[in-house]
Amino acid sequence: MTAGSEGSLQYQPRVKRALCACANSLPECLSGDVADSMAVGEKICTPGVRDGERSEVRLLTQLTPEQERQIVRQCRAHRHARYLVDLKLSYGEILRGFVVDRGVMRPEAMTSVMLARCLHFANGLYCDRDCLDVGCGTGVQGIVMAIRGARHVVLSDVAPSAVRNTEENLHRFQLGGRARVVRGDLFECIDGDYDIIVFNHPFFVGHPSHNLRHKLETNLAAGAFINDSLEDPDLIHRFLAQARSFLRKGGTIVMPYYQLAGAPNDPAVQGPRHGYKVFEHFRASVVTGLQRGVVSVYRLAHRNSR
Ligand SMILES: C[S@@+](CC[C@H](N)C(=O)[O-])C[C@H]1O[C@@H](n2cnc3c(N)ncnc32)[C@H](O)[C@@H]1O
Repeated sequence: MTAGSEGSLQYQPRVKRALCACANSLPECLSGDVADSMAVGEKICTPGVRDGERSEVRLLTQLTPEQERQIVRQCRAHRHARYLVDLKLSYGEILRGFVVDRGVMRPEAMTSVMLARCLHFANGLYCDRDCLDVGCGTGVQGIVMAIRGARHVVLSDVAPSAVRNTEENLHRFQLGGRARVVRGDLFECIDGDYDIIVFNHPFFVGHPSHNLRHKLETNLAAGAFINDSLEDPDLIHRFLAQARSFLRKGGTIVMPYYQLAGAPNDPAVQGPRHGYKVFEHFRASVVTGLQRGVVSVYRLAHRNSR
C-alpha cells in the first residue's frame, strides 16, 4: 500500500464513554518501599554519571522464558514493511492513514494504542500546555496530544527511522505549526520546560539467553528498538533523573507499562527511587494484540519539580 499525502481524524464526538471511565479511574498512590528485584544478576553494567545522576552499578537479571517468548513474538511482528493503518482512538474517532515505516514500532498492536486512547480522553492533563513525547516512534502519542488541544508538542527519538516517520505523520496530519520532532538520546536535543512528558519506554530489559541472543542477532533489523535497549538497565534511570529538570512545577510524566516485563523497568518501582510520587492512572487486562496481559498507565509527579 502506498501512502497518500494527508491523514485525517474522523470526528464523531458522540460516544466517549468506555475509555473516559478508565481515564478517570481511581488514582492509586504506589510510592513507597518496593523490593529490589535487581539485586541478583549475572552481568554488571557501570553507567557513567550524567546530569548529576548518582553513579550506580546496576545488575542485569536473566530474562524469564516467558519474557523471552514475548520478545521473540514482538520481534517477529515487527519484521514489517512500511504500511498505513487507521488507528481507532474511540468508537468514532480514528486517526486515518497513519504511516508506520519499516523498523518502527507498530502502534496498533502494542500498548502504544492503549496509551494513545488514554491520552485522547485525558486531555485535561495537557490542553493548552507544552508537551514532550520522548521515544516518539511513529509520533502517535505526541500527535494525539497535538490534535486534542496541546499548546505545543516536541517529539524526539534516538532512531533516525522514527524521526523520519514522525516527521511524515506530522505533515500528514498538518501539525507542523504546533509540533516538531528532533533526534537525540533522551533529552540530549531538548530545551525548555514542559507541563507533560510522555515516555512509552522500552519495557524489557535483561540478559538474554544464548538462544534469544542468536534469534535477535539473526533478526537485527526487525526489532531494533527492542534489541538496542534490552541490555541497558540504565535507560529508565537516566530518563527519570534527567526528566526532572525539564518538568515544570506541577508537571506530570506519563509512562505506560506492560507488567510481564517485571520490576527493572517498572515506573512504579523505579520512580520513587528518583523522588517521584507514582499514581496508577489506568490499568487493564489486555486480551488482544501483541502485548497481552496487565498493562498500566502511570502518572509521575516529582516532589521537587521546578
Ligand atoms: C516502545 S517504543 C514507543 C514508540 C512510540 N512512542 C509509541 O508509543 O508507539 C520506544 C521508542 O523509544 C525509542 N528510544 C529508545 N531508546 C531511546 C533513547 N535513549 N532516547 C530516545 N528514544 C529512545 C525507540 O527508538 C522507540 O521508538
